[in-house]
Amino acid sequence: MKNKFYITTPIYYPSAEAHIGHAYCTTMCDILARYKRMRGVETYFLTGTDEHGEKIQKKAAEAGVTPQQYVDDIAAKFKNLWKAMKISNDDFIRTTEERHTKVVQNIFSKLYKNEDIYLGKYEGWYCTPCESFWTDTQVGEDHLCPDCGRPVHKDTEECYFFKTQKYLPSLLKYYDENPKFITPVARKNEMLNTFIKPGLDDLSISRTTFDWGIPVKENNRHVMYVWLDALCNYITALGYDTEHHELFDKFWGEDSEIVHVVGADITRFHTIYWPMFLQGLGLRLPDRVFVHGLLDLNGEKMSKSRGNVVSPIPLIERYGVDTVRWFLAKEFSFGSDGRFSPELFAERINVDLANNFGNLVNRTTAMINKYFGGKVPALSNPGEKEKFIEDLTGKTVRKYEALMDDLQPTEAFDEVINLLNSTNKYIEESQPWVLSKENRVEELGNVMAVLVNSIITCTKLLSPALVETQDKVFAMFGLSKEQQQYDYVNKFCVYEGNVVSKGEPLFPRLDVKIETDFINSISH
Ligand code: MSP
Repeated sequence: MKNKFYITTPIYYPSAEAHIGHAYCTTMCDILARYKRMRGVETYFLTGTDEHGEKIQKKAAEAGVTPQQYVDDIAAKFKNLWKAMKISNDDFIRTTEERHTKVVQNIFSKLYKNEDIYLGKYEGWYCTPCESFWTDTQVGEDHLCPDCGRPVHKDTEECYFFKTQKYLPSLLKYYDENPKFITPVARKNEMLNTFIKPGLDDLSISRTTFDWGIPVKENNRHVMYVWLDALCNYITALGYDTEHHELFDKFWGEDSEIVHVVGADITRFHTIYWPMFLQGLGLRLPDRVFVHGLLDLNGEKMSKSRGNVVSPIPLIERYGVDTVRWFLAKEFSFGSDGRFSPELFAERINVDLANNFGNLVNRTTAMINKYFGGKVPALSNPGEKEKFIEDLTGKTVRKYEALMDDLQPTEAFDEVINLLNSTNKYIEESQPWVLSKENRVEELGNVMAVLVNSIITCTKLLSPALVETQDKVFAMFGLSKEQQQYDYVNKFCVYEGNVVSKGEPLFPRLDVKIETDFINSISH
């Protein structure tokens, strides 16, 4: 395992307000960043906004404000949302900031001097919303954008091109030598079959038809193509090519694991062109580009015009941030497409958090207060059932860590849920109420010690998603600073004498019908 970790979200277009789909990607990155920090890995987590391009310029004109005013307003809303969702990003880059624009201009010059770029003429099919040119084959007979499905139009433009063929052989070699560079692996095959095998054209990287972009220093009629501008954020935010390059040296160095998390819609830019730009600059390539699926709402693509956008803010206000984060992390596997619906949301919270985890905590605190005056008893002479849970706990921790390190948080949480299920089953099998009646104090104490151990271990393992719950559980079980350390997950039943208080129920059960009505009322 490398000892540094650099994780990035895509930088979002501030063309409309953020919805639950954007929150999904950022939350998953946050979970991975928090996990790495918990394991003691030096971590840097970046997000931000992608503020240039024709689309933004048009939106601003429609709203009757300057593009800068337009993006200032929406970027501030993105920042507020991440605060409300307890996102632990270390920086927030905006591509209109000077620290970005200046360096991108120098990057263009470097690539130009390196003869990776030349001036030419482009003719092709253009999709305005995606800001992408496409070939005849790609748009097909219906002339539709292969990315978003909307109609494209014929356009011609003088522009600078990036020589993709120059770097294609070394890119393919990198794919071969790094089988986890693009995951899930189906996404790599999609790149090869859809874009690379049919023949990769040179990429047009400047525009002359609008001016809301970073000017090309060499030729002031041109602004940079928004994707060249945007992709560079991953290094400009670290101070690449400036006096303050400490973060760049640290997190873009060989001993740093670099992970870009992106939606399936933008895989091509991150796995084909971005590595080529980096090669042109003589820089190392990222370790992983993890492609996550897209979320729909009740089976329909979320969009403002359809009026089916769900903002996370009212959800957080009603249910708390941990429940929203939990739904996103757990409802569908990271990498697969997923669905948000009010019923799925309420049921997910009830099954995992109210009935399983929350209920275990409530029962345990009540029993320790009733049977042991609120003090955690010691484990002594454990029997088969206790040994089974001890063994399962060790296995769970090992599997969890391996899955998290492999960027599979949903499956890692499945393991923890499994341990919680087994612990609840262990209560039923041990029947503490019978042990109490028959005055079998040692056995009863063992049950309590094991329950406390499972709760604390699972709380820690779930803490990258359940960020507020951890503090509540630690307080309820009177954990010392030392006991709060992550490494305690490798010890078993070491909480003897801790004082347990009865807190409020952690996750009240939701009434699916009432909550469905509420969530439908906030979709817009
Ligand atoms: N600005 C570019 C990215 C540049 S990165 C150098 C862009 N922005 S975007 O706002 O349109 O989308 C960015 C990302 O938001 C997507 O790749 C995806 O990760 C996330 N999502 C946007 N809508 C989503 C869903 N409906 N579901 C899941 N993720 C979604 O493309």
